[in-house]
Amino acid sequence: MFRDEVEVWSPKDSEKITGFLRRVSPGFAENAQARAWVEPGDRILLQIAFVKEGVAARVLETFVVKDDGGNIIRVEPPEAAGKPEESRLESDSPNPCLKTLEDRLRILNWHHSNSLAAVAKRLVGLEVFSILPSQEVDWASSVFNQVFPESPLTLRPYGYFDKETGEYVITRPDTPTPWINYLGQGGYGGIISNTAGGFSFDRDPRNRRVTRYRYNAIPLDQPGHYIYLRDEETGEFWSPTWQPVKKSLEWYECRHGAGYTRISSRRNGVEASVLFFVPPNPPYVECPVELHVLRLKNTSASVKSLSIWSYEELSYWDAIVDTTNLDWGQQIVSSSYRNGVIVTGVQFRPTRTFFASSLAPDGYDTSREVFVGSYDDLSRPQAVVSGKPGYSIASRGNNIASLRHFLELKPGEEKTIVYVLGVTDKPSLIPETVEHYRVVENVEKAFQELGENWGEYLGKLTVETPDEEMNAMINLWNAVQCRANLYWSRFVSLYDTGLGRGMGTRDSAQDTLGTVHNDPQHARRVLKMLWKLQFKDGHTWHQVFPLTGEGGPGHAAESPEKPQWFSDDHLWLILATCSYLRETGDFTLLDEKLPYQDSDVEETVSEHVERAVGFTCRKRGFHGLPLIGFADWDDTMNLDHGSEKAESVWTGMLFCRVMLDLAELCKKLGRVEKMMEFEKLHREMAETINRVSWDGEWYARAYDDEGRPVGVKGEKYHWISLIPQAWSAIAELGEEERSRKALESARRFLNTPLGLRLMRDPFNSSKTDEDSVDVESLRRFGGTATYPPGLKENGGIFNHANTWAIVAAAKLGLGDLAYQFYRQIMPLRRRDMDALKTEPYVYSQNLAAPEHPEYGCARNSWLTGTASWVYVAATQWILGIRPTFEGLKISPCIPGSWSGFNARRVFRGVTYNIFVKRVGKGSKLSLKVNGKNVPGEVVPLPTEDVASVEVEVALGGQ
Ligand code: GLC
Repeated sequence: MFRDEVEVWSPKDSEKITGFLRRVSPGFAENAQARAWVEPGDRILLQIAFVKEGVAARVLETFVVKDDGGNIIRVEPPEAAGKPEESRLESDSPNPCLKTLEDRLRILNWHHSNSLAAVAKRLVGLEVFSILPSQEVDWASSVFNQVFPESPLTLRPYGYFDKETGEYVITRPDTPTPWINYLGQGGYGGIISNTAGGFSFDRDPRNRRVTRYRYNAIPLDQPGHYIYLRDEETGEFWSPTWQPVKKSLEWYECRHGAGYTRISSRRNGVEASVLFFVPPNPPYVECPVELHVLRLKNTSASVKSLSIWSYEELSYWDAIVDTTNLDWGQQIVSSSYRNGVIVTGVQFRPTRTFFASSLAPDGYDTSREVFVGSYDDLSRPQAVVSGKPGYSIASRGNNIASLRHFLELKPGEEKTIVYVLGVTDKPSLIPETVEHYRVVENVEKAFQELGENWGEYLGKLTVETPDEEMNAMINLWNAVQCRANLYWSRFVSLYDTGLGRGMGTRDSAQDTLGTVHNDPQHARRVLKMLWKLQFKDGHTWHQVFPLTGEGGPGHAAESPEKPQWFSDDHLWLILATCSYLRETGDFTLLDEKLPYQDSDVEETVSEHVERAVGFTCRKRGFHGLPLIGFADWDDTMNLDHGSEKAESVWTGMLFCRVMLDLAELCKKLGRVEKMMEFEKLHREMAETINRVSWDGEWYARAYDDEGRPVGVKGEKYHWISLIPQAWSAIAELGEEERSRKALESARRFLNTPLGLRLMRDPFNSSKTDEDSVDVESLRRFGGTATYPPGLKENGGIFNHANTWAIVAAAKLGLGDLAYQFYRQIMPLRRRDMDALKTEPYVYSQNLAAPEHPEYGCARNSWLTGTASWVYVAATQWILGIRPTFEGLKISPCIPGSWSGFNARRVFRGVTYNIFVKRVGKGSKLSLKVNGKNVPGEVVPLPTEDVASVEVEVALGGQ
């Protein structure tokens, strides 16, 4: 059908193609994103997305690559190759320019004289952001460098990574979603977006909420810590953080850093910057605060007379009451104003929120309705419009904290106002706290201490690899994200409201994996909290509210007819405990005595571990595999409908890994019998898995409660699953060839240029059209089948699970593949921000797979097990720097193209300066410690007086 419009372009056509796109769509270079990739069956998909005159459009084309002989490859539309494929154009309204594009982009032909790699290279001219062949791994890794030829950290739409400061710099306020940062270190803290949206809480976003958050508002980060600047001569006002007034700014920049955010802008000759941070505190202080430091500079030639208005919308301390019981909640709160300090609270509880500033204010409001007006909004509050504060003292209703200041700035003059927002149960502490932070030097000192705190935290492991983006992630953002997870697990983000979910048991256990070297004491506290969630039969609660220690069954409670336990939660605790012990050598943890949920009799952590092992040993099904319970790692694998028969192959693999870790631990402790017992349990489970779950080319995922396998050939949906393929290597099932084959199958059938899908094919049961509802899948699989095809656990690109493929590839010695899997999911390398949507400096839990119309779109950024696991995968498996009981192991599995890397790792108080050099092919290595050859891959623990060691690693060669 497109034949008559065939355009044939010659080998040097990348410029021509871009030129063509510019011609048909002026402004192409600014706003268009094109991507292309090779799919199984040698299909090339080309997708171009652009915004033109406010219309977002996407063109998706599929081409088939055909070898015409003589090394000429023609790219033809699928029809020509006899394979009808989807071709679609999406647009909200007709657009002449779009039409031209649609017409002209039907067919692109490339001639070339080499291989598919050349096609890929050609596509670079089209701003291809990623490409992945399905057939040849080696080819893929060599192409990666060609696909990203320019400096990797260069400007992207909306911002860039600043190599000097480590900050992610956002250059446009209207990011596709609010791009946030976390403030605080597990005590008082909050979320702050790139336009000052967000909210704060003290230790617990449900039980000690400080400021409000409007769930699902437009935009998503409402309200926030807002400031209005008003030119007193003209009455014109704006927000230096863009929101909420949203007047255009001559210049705008948001710098998210480790534990702080600084938003700067210029308008009307006034340069403003607001620095948001929480002074570093131990997890609990009696009167915690956050600080907002506003700096104003007059960059014009005339005197500026400004009024400055702050806005904090306060929440009732119980965030659930604040959203559900507006009657009671809003009748009982009231505010006072004294000496420039606004204090808000209720009579029957000492909790007080307070707000003050370093300069004396000359106006205030504490009633939202007075400040804003009942029918106005935050973009034009009545007080600011009129220039008259209401001096309102709220005696009920929606309480806010707003202070008004006047400042006169001469040309070139700069002035600072510090805002102090805090909460306490000891109101007597408020005056002295406020006085302290009214002194700008104290604020500067606190900010410096914050930098030192982070410096120490991040300094435990730094790397210098040939991949700048990898360095940026490992040295800063990945570690920052891991820390946010450690504190907030899945409790509070723009996706988890901080109301219901609490922290996840398995989640929190996994979060310690990537943070234990930075903060072993915190990991220890988390592990103890989690072990206390255990029942005497060995299983644990699925979730916990950290402030109270109260546990719960999580979403299993919604289906009381199903098992109320998860098959994996308790096993993650063992895995995380072993990781803690390898890192610290602190075996006293094993002797700590802790109670159970159903018994106050305290037993040692060792005994808790035994009970966890016992639970899985007892709860086994027909095939000898662990029963799945309500679910396993995949919360939506709800295969058991109350029969207690469905089994999880993957949990069997987790069990295997855990048995190996325990055996190793017992060996270290000299408990030989126990060691042998765990080795035996590993052998037996591995043997069972190999016997009942090998499907010829990959491992099955589970058995449902009718004994039917899931994730096997011949099924219509879910015929292959990612996680057992990756975990077969991690679990060391003793059949390495199978593990290789399994991983290869995962790559072949599940891979995309943006990562591996969790499974294929996704269920198609989310349609609302009654006739097409897939009742059978919904019944059989529960949660998974409720998602649309290609989203989340229903075959989405689940980043968390992708990290295990990296580990598996490295374990199997496949350095190029491990690196490819790592690069694929790295957000910092993405350029298509409008498609990605979430923050490019942190990982999201999942991306939509090609089966979904919004392929590439990410969800659930920040709080995801991806953070810790990808950190572990990159540092411990690709770079190979692994703590062991005997010392630090250095066993890199890096891509063939790397000449080496350097790293600095603090392990048990000793600094290891590591220099890895490739001297030949392969992964054989030899170690020199302080210039002396050392056999094996482990740097033995040095004697106590040694502070640092130099480790040279020669990789490859003889
Ligand atoms: C979410 C949950 C995590 C679960 C995963 C897969 O990330 O927080 O506990 O393992 O989804 O379902």
